[in-house]
Amino acid sequence: KRPAGAPDEALAKPVSKVGIIGAGLMASQFALLFVRRLQVPVVITDLDQGRVDKAVAGIHGEIDKLADKGRVSTDEQQRLKALISGTVDKADFADCDWVIEAVFEELGVKQQVFREIEPHLSPEAVLATNTSGLSIEAMGSALQHPERLVGFHFFNPVAVMPLIEVVKTPTTDDATLATAMRVAKDLKKNAVITRDTPGFVVNRILAKLLGEAMHAVEQGTPFEDVVEAQRAFGFPMDPFVLLDLVGLKVGAHVLDTHHAAAPDRFFESKALHELAEAGILLEKDAKGEPKGIDKRARKIVAK
Ligand code: 3HC
Repeated sequence: KRPAGAPDEALAKPVSKVGIIGAGLMASQFALLFVRRLQVPVVITDLDQGRVDKAVAGIHGEIDKLADKGRVSTDEQQRLKALISGTVDKADFADCDWVIEAVFEELGVKQQVFREIEPHLSPEAVLATNTSGLSIEAMGSALQHPERLVGFHFFNPVAVMPLIEVVKTPTTDDATLATAMRVAKDLKKNAVITRDTPGFVVNRILAKLLGEAMHAVEQGTPFEDVVEAQRAFGFPMDPFVLLDLVGLKVGAHVLDTHHAAAPDRFFESKALHELAEAGILLEKDAKGEPKGIDKRARKIVAK
């Protein structure tokens, strides 16, 4: 069944090469998904060769892990690795028909990235952004052709979370939207089409959950009691483990964006900013293993 608001699938453009702008953790996770599910070349770029090389090496490492677990054959391991490349030359994006950005969550930075890449793209290329809540219409104002821009929001961990939010702006055209829906389907994800409002749908809900959890501990409720209380809902993760997973910096940014858009509905958390600055994880150690609530986190939220 076609999702509500989805245009005719026949309008979707073929995707034979993917371009990714930004070589951070999220981009690396979805680069691997693109290469595995679409089986097409994927090229990644960032500000400097060092970051690009690190990302490509990291993705190769993840492919090796999949091979060690028997999830991909030795042949496929080599083929997938060969499909991933890194570059700092924008000319390598000339034959990409799907280009997605996952750079720093700041409108000006994303507009600059789009302004720089657009002259190198084919007129048919579709542009997507993995923003978690910035205005995509505002991003598109930097483009000559904003009708080819669409939101394509992944969730962490990308390999297992089943949803993609496909975000339609007032200017996104039907071919772009249909292409995004087809790409989501080919990635074997469920897609919902959302409006271009702060936080789309998922992060509106998440900002409530995480904002209230942080507000409760900042008001003096022990972390453990918030965790116990949330257990009533049967969520797969407690709110502080979830914050560790998405990253405290990203979490703080999501809360800020929502608070700025609707201060009467969403909390911001100064403690979360301080924790992110200090590089503290709330419940996990550096290897991602549970360690119990961090002692320094208790002190920071109690201030
Ligand atoms: N990367 C890749 N695969 C992972 C993974 C990771 N980080 N974590 C778990 N997996 C895989 C495991 O390998 C396993 O696969 P298998 O069944 O094929 O062996 C499968 O996921 C299940 O893992 P586990 O049994 O170890 O663990 P759980 O059953 O506890 O599930 C979870 C793990 C899927 C991460 C679950 O805890 C969960 O759904 N947590 C909530 C995550 C969430 O809410 N994410 C959204 C964050 S918001 C966001 O990203 C938006 C941004 O804008 C802020």
